Amino acid sequence: MSGNQIPVIETVSVVKRFGELVAVDGVSLAVPQGECFGLLGPNGAGKTSTVRMIQGVSPVTSGTIRVLGMNVAEQGRKVKALVGVCPQEDNLDPDFSVGG
Ligand SMILES: Nc1ncnc2c1ncn2[C@@H]1O[C@H](COP(=O)(O)OP(=O)(O)OP(=O)(O)O)[C@@H](O)[C@H]1O
Ligand SMILES: [Mg+2]
Repeated sequence: MSGNQIPVIETVSVVKRFGELVAVDGVSLAVPQGECFGLLGPNGAGKTSTVRMIQGVSPVTSGTIRVLGMNVAEQGRKVKALVGVCPQEDNLDPDFSVGG
C-alpha cells in the first residue's frame, strides 16, 4: 500500500464528555485507505461514541477528526454524503409496514 495517501479516517486527541462522564478520552488513530479496521473494547468503552463523532452526528468535546482529509466539524455535510453506516441496531420505525 502506498504510504503517502491521506488516511480515510484520522482522529487526533478526540475527547467526548457527557456532563461529568468522560466517554472518549483522547483517541488518536489513523485508518489508511484499503485497510479493514476494527475498534474493539468492553461495553461502555466509547466505541459507539467515537463512531458517531466520525460520522459527524455527535460533536467532539475536543480534538479533531478528518475523513478523507475533511475536518468533520467544518465539512460535516460533505462527510455525511460520502460515508455509509450500518448500525448495530436498525433505525426503522416498527409501526411502519413494508406494504402500503
Ligand atoms: N448520549 C449519552 N448521554 C450520556 N452518556 C452517554 C451517552 N452515550 C453514551 N454514554 C456513555 O458513554 C460511555 C461510552 O458509551 P458508548 O456507547 O460509546 O460505549 P460502547 O463502547 O459503544 O459500548 P457497547 O459495547 O455497550 O456498545 C458509557 O458510559 C455510556 O453510558
Ligand atoms: Mg456501542
